[in-house]
Amino acid sequence: MKIVKSIRAMQKFADSRRRRGKSIGLVPTMGALHEGHLSLIKRSARENDLTVVSIFVNPTQFGPGEDFDRYPRRPSQDLRLAARAGADIVFMPRNDDIYPENFGTFVDPGAIGEILEGKARPGHFRGVATICVKLFNIVKPHRAYFGQKDAQQLAIMLRLVKDLNFDMKIVACKIVRSPQGVALSSRHAYLDKDDLIKAEAIYSSLQQARRMILSGERDIEKIKLTIKSIIESRPPLQLEYVSLNSWPDLATVNKLEGRILISLVAGIKGIRLLDNIVIKV
Ligand code: PAJ
Repeated sequence: MKIVKSIRAMQKFADSRRRRGKSIGLVPTMGALHEGHLSLIKRSARENDLTVVSIFVNPTQFGPGEDFDRYPRRPSQDLRLAARAGADIVFMPRNDDIYPENFGTFVDPGAIGEILEGKARPGHFRGVATICVKLFNIVKPHRAYFGQKDAQQLAIMLRLVKDLNFDMKIVACKIVRSPQGVALSSRHAYLDKDDLIKAEAIYSSLQQARRMILSGERDIEKIKLTIKSIIESRPPLQLEYVSLNSWPDLATVNKLEGRILISLVAGIKGIRLLDNIVIKV
């Protein structure tokens, strides 16, 4: 496995592979790799001749007062894990190369980036869209892999490549959970065992919502209240928001039909845990 730090070297390498007819898969990450990330890497390795994993803690997607400074950084462990999962290249650019002094162009995903997580974290998806477009121009992938775990991010990527005519495919990958159902996250590094046991209520609440809908419940408020009461039966776990939206355009729904995304954020000790399911009604 090769480690590439220079943007120019990465572009040249991508060009040479493309000229030889090789397919390139990109897995964008912020590092602190866990089984969720590794499932994306493994899938890319199966589906492409070359798999590039990018590791870059992107400052423009963190708001003031968020955890940019203390976000877990474990480069040597990440390199070992990425290699084992089948990465051919790890692209680890320097901050000053990605955002040089006079940097000023941003990609704005519009309304789809201003609801849900975009409302809770203003500017977040502008930062995500900007770094992803930069990575697409640097790595020149045929396919880029995104987890359903960050459903809104995935929806924005699907829209972005369509809106801006990127000649590549966004591949949606399912959520990897602990055996107890907790969606794996790099931010679990901030939590202890007891917090993670409480966090099991998050997926239980989503499964209960699924059961309710499948057995005919159509009252959206009732479904949301059930989710809230299951999550808040494990204090200090608290529901920040739960939302039902159409998938993948994230329109507000008044009626349950078609593919519905139920997404939520639960907080524990100031840490925001995201989870979601998509139900076909
Ligand atoms: P990061 O949080 O490191 O996640 C990288 C990718 O791994 C994302 O596509 C995310 O959805 C996926 N992922 C995380 N946990 C997962 C899980 N439990 N199961 C399946 N997939 C999972 O998302 C980002 O980084 C950044 O916003 C990024 C896209 C790299 C832009 O900076």
